[in-house]
Amino acid sequence: MAKEWWKKSAQDIPKLITELPGPESRRMHKSTQRYMRGLSSQVQLFPVCFKEGHGITLTDVDGNRYLDFSSGIYVTSLGHSHPKVSEAVAHWANTLMNCHDFTHPVKEKLLIKMADILPGNLNSVQFYSDGTSAVEAGLRAARAINGRHEFISAYRDFHGKSMGAVSCAQMARGDVFVYGPTRAPGFYMVPRPDPYRPHFAKADGAIDSDQYIDFYTEFIREGTAGNVTAFVLEPAQGWAGSIFPPDDFFPKLKAFCEKHDILLFADEVLAGMGRTGEWLCMSHWDVIPDIVTFGKSFGNGFPVTALVVKEEYAAALDKISASSSYGGNPMACAAALASIQVIEEEDILENVRVVGDALMRRMKKMQDEHPIIGDVKGKGFLLGIELVKDKATKEPFGEAGKLVYQNAFARGLAWIPAGHILRMSPPLIMDEHYAMMGLDMIEDSIRQVEKQFGY
Ligand SMILES: Cc1ncc(COP(=O)(O)O)c(C=O)c1O
Repeated sequence: MAKEWWKKSAQDIPKLITELPGPESRRMHKSTQRYMRGLSSQVQLFPVCFKEGHGITLTDVDGNRYLDFSSGIYVTSLGHSHPKVSEAVAHWANTLMNCHDFTHPVKEKLLIKMADILPGNLNSVQFYSDGTSAVEAGLRAARAINGRHEFISAYRDFHGKSMGAVSCAQMARGDVFVYGPTRAPGFYMVPRPDPYRPHFAKADGAIDSDQYIDFYTEFIREGTAGNVTAFVLEPAQGWAGSIFPPDDFFPKLKAFCEKHDILLFADEVLAGMGRTGEWLCMSHWDVIPDIVTFGKSFGNGFPVTALVVKEEYAAALDKISASSSYGGNPMACAAALASIQVIEEEDILENVRVVGDALMRRMKKMQDEHPIIGDVKGKGFLLGIELVKDKATKEPFGEAGKLVYQNAFARGLAWIPAGHILRMSPPLIMDEHYAMMGLDMIEDSIRQVEKQFGY
């Protein structure tokens, strides 16, 4: 199949034929809201309704066509309705939809493929159908591996919305807070390095990973029961705004974990499977975690996720049953297998590295030229632009974030806001031409909002 199967459908984007959101979007959104509540701020700030997606193009119910800079929500990474993935799912939808956790031919092929692409001996697997369930299974696996029970996660990490996963998250967020007044016993949070806003810095202001590690030593001694099973961390913080730690952080944390016999659990649900130009985001730092979770890009939109542990911990997976209603069903495994094959056949990792570098160069130029861009961050196609009121004080500029989001959407860019950090997660198939088109729309919107605020 031609690598550029999506080009024809993208020829005329953005194509806007009504005011946005259009009349049918507004009608449909209103009618749906009568029955469904709790929508994300992304939807509330721009309530458009979509009817079709093809490659990097989204079409709304009024016929307006958008450039996709969101991949759903980091999900349809190989483009909407990739023919190879969709055909693989359709084949199994017509052949065998579910056989509990019995093995089937496509599951066998997927497991062999995963063992082939993942580093080290990360080859003991369980399948689930959402990222949160895979994370929960990872928490159970950690306890089963070393018999300890305490977990350490980090400020502004996000791991899903079940009770265990929210216990690894910031409790001040409204949706987390209503679950209960405290996090589950034995779950702790520590700061992790954000190079733009360091807690611990050297005399010259540069972030200091060693001080974070020293703090963890003290925290484990003073703040825990000395029974820590694992650090649970996103390799790069997606929800928080595409925040990557300095390059020396994870190698130092891994060495720290080994010294203290603590497992390193990397939640790669958002950052893994090619989004940063590597199968495993952790590979940027040559770190092989003990426990890994995959989701989102893994099935290009079909709900399929995985928990993977190192081979030496395989026996622990026997203790935490692998069966669930949907985990590892033939359609799910077919979607994941086809997605991995597409990444290989279409040389997607290389595209992400090359186009991702071009995006970062352009974003750095934007940072130099715009008074409200405090920082630009990311790797590959996991990117963020941090808006501040003043570059010296770094005061977050949430109001500008909202307006830039709405303004760029109204120009035909379907994307994801995160308060004052503009998050970008384009489909990994996107070439430089369309990537720059997206940044043009964002930069024009930033310019307009700057003018509005008198910069
Ligand atoms: C790092 C991370 N882990 C877990 C999850 C939860 O995944 P899901 O929404 O598929 O349950 C998410 C979702 O955004 C995530 O970003």
